[in-house]
Amino acid sequence: MNYEQLIQQIDKERMPQHIAIIMDGNGRWADEHKTKRVNGHKEGVKAVRRIVETAVEAGLKYLTVYAFSTENWRRTKQEVNYLLKLIMDSLTKEIEDLNYNNVNIRFIGSKEELEKSYNKKVIETCKKSWKNDGLHLNVAMNYGGRRELIDAFKKMADDLKAGKISKEKINDEMIGNYLYTAYMPDPDLIIRTSGEERLSNFLIWQSAYSEFWFTNTLWPDFSREEFIQSILDFQNRKRRFGSR
Ligand code: IPE
Ligand code: IPE
Ligand code: MG
Repeated sequence: MNYEQLIQQIDKERMPQHIAIIMDGNGRWADEHKTKRVNGHKEGVKAVRRIVETAVEAGLKYLTVYAFSTENWRRTKQEVNYLLKLIMDSLTKEIEDLNYNNVNIRFIGSKEELEKSYNKKVIETCKKSWKNDGLHLNVAMNYGGRRELIDAFKKMADDLKAGKISKEKINDEMIGNYLYTAYMPDPDLIIRTSGEERLSNFLIWQSAYSEFWFTNTLWPDFSREEFIQSILDFQNRKRRFGSR
């Protein structure tokens, strides 16, 4: 089946609301092509563009992409600097187009170590895009699920002390609204490329009932057809949420 035929197969009534992707395998792609790791990351950016376009065509509401984790600082200084610059440069190049195409762009993650690397134009255009009601694109930058919970607990403790919330009212929904993903639906589907089958500190609270979809394809090779296939497979699953 070609792309047009595949996309026709999607049942619009049962579209996942939120898809989150762990984009893994750039380094191995570079190894396979006997080139430097940084070239794998460069190729990975092209795949992000392709998948964002496909998400728009498929009518997806929320897409979250894991771009840089709180653990990725453990890589060499050279790779970290290259990655951060590549992500920011790519966004600087694309963000006006994204805004024009009705995409609502948001960063999720800790700003702490990143203040300096954010480009002013990116932040301004980002804020402008918050009026858009097309695809909501979350870029997970310096994101860690545990860090997100720590940040949330700290804020809740402050609010509790200030009397803004009461202990009795703490529930799933309230905790969810203290997270970076406040007021968004939880991911229905989490995709991970490159054959690894783990969460690597991604959306640990929000993934409580997510469906998982794994592929051996390395991120730079991830095609729009495969992305649509993941949606079709999702639509064939039966979610139970604990019921029988
Ligand atoms: C994913 O590719 C990109 C980031 C983690 C930023 P990797 O760089 O993890 O690639 P592998 O896992 O080494 O192949
Ligand atoms: C997860 O990939 C982080 C991102 C995709 C940004 P990693 O390559 O960092 O994960 P591990 O180290 O294999 O678990
Ligand atoms: Mg990896």
